[in-house]
Amino acid sequence: MRDAMGETSGRVSPTVWQDRAGADYLVRMAEPRDAGALVALLNEVGREEIFIADEGSQLTEEQQARFLERLNPLQQCLLVAEQGGQTLGSLEMVRGTLQKNRHTATFGMALFPAARGRGIGRGLLLTAERWARQVGIQKISLAVFATNDVAIRLYQSLGYREEGRRFGQYRIRGQWVDEIWMAHWLSPVIPPTR
Ligand SMILES: CC(C)(COP(=O)(O)OP(=O)(O)OC[C@H]1O[C@@H](n2cnc3c(N)ncnc32)[C@H](O)[C@@H]1OP(=O)(O)O)[C@@H](O)C(=O)NCCC(=O)NCCS
Repeated sequence: MRDAMGETSGRVSPTVWQDRAGADYLVRMAEPRDAGALVALLNEVGREEIFIADEGSQLTEEQQARFLERLNPLQQCLLVAEQGGQTLGSLEMVRGTLQKNRHTATFGMALFPAARGRGIGRGLLLTAERWARQVGIQKISLAVFATNDVAIRLYQSLGYREEGRRFGQYRIRGQWVDEIWMAHWLSPVIPPTR
């Protein structure tokens, strides 16, 4: 959202998207009341082991609520997706804090198991990209396990491309897993070429 002077508050308006079955879901900025669901989500996806590096939430529900109260929306965007009042998943995008990398942001996202494969991730990421454009970010990057085919397909379908790979960066259930770095430049920026 922009004021009369064209300045942005960093706040994104709630947006209704349709999942693959045509049902509406809402993507909105997270509020302190979402703290419990966010902690439960990170704990559940962390326990699954194979999708994200985190092994669970680093914050208690109270700490998460306080974090959300104080979050600077020009620096960070924490979104939740919900349907019928039920939290489906979330996405957290963080802008570079240095003058040198203020034009970049990185993000992580996760859905509860029952919400996956329905196109919900797309609405979350497109809403986060809207925030990124609003605050003047030019490049978005992320890290993903090379084994995470669904996530990689989602990112590729939205224009993210591989920039680099750290071989055997993780060891999951006895297997070496590469970490892939992907990035997407927001138009109309012309990225530096290799
Ligand atoms: C990764 C994640 C955010 C993707 O969101 P999503 O809403 O499930 O993604 P989509 O339903 O849009 O699926 C993405 C692509 O994978 C395909 N896909 C979905 N489920 C699939 C499955 N079980 N097998 C094969 N392909 C599948 C979809 O068809 C889609 O491809 P397409 O655009 O070519 O049709 C979500 O699955 C998730 O939270 N996973 C666990 C946590 C995680 O991996 N987080 C990301 C860490 S980097």
